[in-house]
Amino acid sequence: MKTVPASLDRRRIAEIRDREEAAYRARTPRSAELHQRAKRAMPLGVASSFQAYAPYPLFMTDAHGSHITDADGNQYLDLDMAFGVLAAGHSHPILAEALAHRIANGTCYTFPVEDGIVLAEEIKRRFGADLVRFSNSGTEATMDAIRVARGFTGREKVVKFEGGYHGHHDDVLISIQPPRELMGPPDAPLAVPATAGMPRSRLNETVVAPYNNPEALEQILDRNRGEIAAILIEPVQFNIGVVPPLPGFLERVRELATAHGAVLIFDEVKTGVVLAYGGATEHFGVQPDLICLAKSIGGGVPIGAFAGRGEVMSVIEKLPESTGAGTAMAQTTIPGGATRVAHLGTFNGNPLSMAAGVAVLTRILTRDVYPQLHAMADRLTAGCQSVVDEFGLPGYAVNAGPKGCVMFTPERVTNYRDFIGLDGELWEASFFYLANRGILLPPGPDDQWTLSVQHTDEELDRYVSTFRDFASEMSA
Ligand SMILES: Cc1ncc(COP(=O)(O)O)c(C=O)c1O
Repeated sequence: MKTVPASLDRRRIAEIRDREEAAYRARTPRSAELHQRAKRAMPLGVASSFQAYAPYPLFMTDAHGSHITDADGNQYLDLDMAFGVLAAGHSHPILAEALAHRIANGTCYTFPVEDGIVLAEEIKRRFGADLVRFSNSGTEATMDAIRVARGFTGREKVVKFEGGYHGHHDDVLISIQPPRELMGPPDAPLAVPATAGMPRSRLNETVVAPYNNPEALEQILDRNRGEIAAILIEPVQFNIGVVPPLPGFLERVRELATAHGAVLIFDEVKTGVVLAYGGATEHFGVQPDLICLAKSIGGGVPIGAFAGRGEVMSVIEKLPESTGAGTAMAQTTIPGGATRVAHLGTFNGNPLSMAAGVAVLTRILTRDVYPQLHAMADRLTAGCQSVVDEFGLPGYAVNAGPKGCVMFTPERVTNYRDFIGLDGELWEASFFYLANRGILLPPGPDDQWTLSVQHTDEELDRYVSTFRDFASEMSA
């Protein structure tokens, strides 16, 4: 924990945190009751462990535009937006109409539909990709992209960055937020499993690198020369608040991937179609070999996709004779002598998800909405920063396009090691304070707000003014 300015004493933070948590409990008895019941039916009382937080999660009943309502009838300005799924906002009328049509006309065929072509063509256009495949989540997208990279290169290892989250399959559920005592040296982080139940052997295939440290990445690649199938990176690290790439970092990652014959995969599950029309790829002007998409492309309907260079993606049709690095395909990666990479899934490209994707990408998140989303986010960040400055809070406001947060640590975070210094108690006090006054942020300091085309400046001003009240009480 970093020390806080003298004006913020720890007792005060704890006092406000406890008072606000008590108020949260008093306002949400129905959620508490539902959580008790849910715990008897589901571990932690939730469907995904990310949904669980103390004392209990809010249970929701409905949501429209930029607002969401809990089981006690409390309404919130929603800034969580389903962990960043909803750049289109809740139930956008265009999306609602497209889905209603689909629901009335069959939601799953396992035969292809024309909407799938339209959506694939749209993704190609936005991301400069040659070929696209659909899945049902971000997890599936990164899992499949890694398999494609392995098939293409004939290699097995994957580089991921410490603090990065790429879904819940074994290759990537490693070094998400490792405990300090296990994480190893800063320039050569150890691979630390983020779950029980993972075979230890999986740790040999995932190599962990520090984000924003090109020199360390270069050394790691040198130490694993000829073995790295893919470098998987979230261009802005959004699992530790908001941590943008330092100038030149992504460019250097691109160069190193090329030099080492590794497939560069941008995990654009959060950045894609949110940061810009063409995601982080367009925003930073760095072209990866593959991208992974999910979340916002479906406007709230489960979907995933990966896309990229034709040469790489076509391993789904046929493996190359030799790898990009010029070595023969390693037999170890082709069990049973398979001649292509399997990419499968009952729900892939289902009519409901495809209709949602087409509506969102071609009719809602069109190119003209991005300047407005960026302007709103910049204004919100400036508002939060002015509060931080006025009251000397230990922190700073930051955004990357329509996604941002207040990082409760005085120094700029450039990687996971810096993030560990975040003041969790101060963050918690602010979360409950804001929730009790109708402003809902994601329930964790590692996530961030996502603005949608249905938010307004007036709503965001309300957030800033409530945050100001919080800061003022905190430093009183
Ligand atoms: C960057 C990133 N990649 C992948 C995923 C996994 O996506 P999903 O939860 O749809 O499996 C997430 C989820 O938060 C994510 O933020």
